[in-house]
Amino acid sequence: MTIEIGEHIRSIEPYKPGKPLEELERELGIKDAIKLASNENPLGPSKKALAVLKKGLTGLHRYPEGSGRRLREAIAQKHKLKPEQVILGNGSDEIMDLAAKTFLAPGDEAILGDITFAIYHISVTAHHGISVRVPLRDGRYDLEAMATRLTPMTRLIFICNPNNPTGTMIRRRELDRLLNRLPPNALVIMDEAYAEYADDPEFPNTIDDVKRGAPVLVLRTFSKMYGLAGLRIGYGLSTPAVVAAMNRVRLPFNTNSLAQAAALAALSDESHTARSLRLNREGRRYLSNAFADLGLTFLPSQANFIYVDIGRDGAAVYERLLRKGVIVRHMEGPRLRISIGRPAENRRFVKALGQVLKTGSR
Ligand SMILES: Cc1ncc(COP(=O)(O)O)c(C=O)c1O
Repeated sequence: MTIEIGEHIRSIEPYKPGKPLEELERELGIKDAIKLASNENPLGPSKKALAVLKKGLTGLHRYPEGSGRRLREAIAQKHKLKPEQVILGNGSDEIMDLAAKTFLAPGDEAILGDITFAIYHISVTAHHGISVRVPLRDGRYDLEAMATRLTPMTRLIFICNPNNPTGTMIRRRELDRLLNRLPPNALVIMDEAYAEYADDPEFPNTIDDVKRGAPVLVLRTFSKMYGLAGLRIGYGLSTPAVVAAMNRVRLPFNTNSLAQAAALAALSDESHTARSLRLNREGRRYLSNAFADLGLTFLPSQANFIYVDIGRDGAAVYERLLRKGVIVRHMEGPRLRISIGRPAENRRFVKALGQVLKTGSR
């Protein structure tokens, strides 16, 4: 017996995660592969988070506190919002999916960039919405062009800031122009998974938009700078009404007790975040200089990765780097996305890339 699968589901390309380290090490029979492919924190989790995880193990027979009250209170306090403006997700990607589930009816439209985080399109399509993909301009979200695509059917607008994979950012002025043109019932989702790494003074503080009650849902995550990707926990900030609507369809225990406890500890570990930021800033500078020395074009990054054009078949270079034990991410055509690692990892990558480029991309 075959089960018929809806056309909208069949149209979805499954999300392709970065190649796991263990898989490559098994394939090559080596033990020292490096992964600069999933924008993780190369320092790992904060020690404070690890300590509470050990304590939390003895309580695993209990269900977690369903809404993560303590963590929501701490997040609300950090951003000077009310706890009812905070929703937790099993990773911030779950909150994108919850937003699509909550706000889209069949045929509703969602506007997004054409080169951006893949989950927006997957969630929109799975919930019978229509993705309106607007080309980036010079590798940046083009909010002016997105505004021209607004219609009475527009319910969601996804803005990835800084954008994955290009690492670029949009500015306050651009955002305000879009916010001023929104049709009724449209919600802007600001996906700020990498916001903690942004150091441009013009990076917009969208928590201010949440504070003034604008139709904005800001998404942040503990997977990147806080180093807790494996635990799966992120959060959304919006008006109490938007959060309450999403809570109607959120599964009751969507974030687990260990993730909640570790995130709470990580939030207050300022020395870990300061070290992570410093490491990222230095690595970003090192890799940018190395790309310039190799004569490669790359986009200025506000995140923990760099989008580089290697000027030849990117898939072939990706494969040859794999054979040298270095995992990066091949995006489209000649473009790779390189996550910033520890100094030794960055050096090893640059050396491997130099060798690959010197010998051509056979
Ligand atoms: C732009 C962007 N948003 C969200 C996420 C998902 O983060 P989380 O681990 O919180 O689901 C990622 C992960 O790579 C990302 O790149």
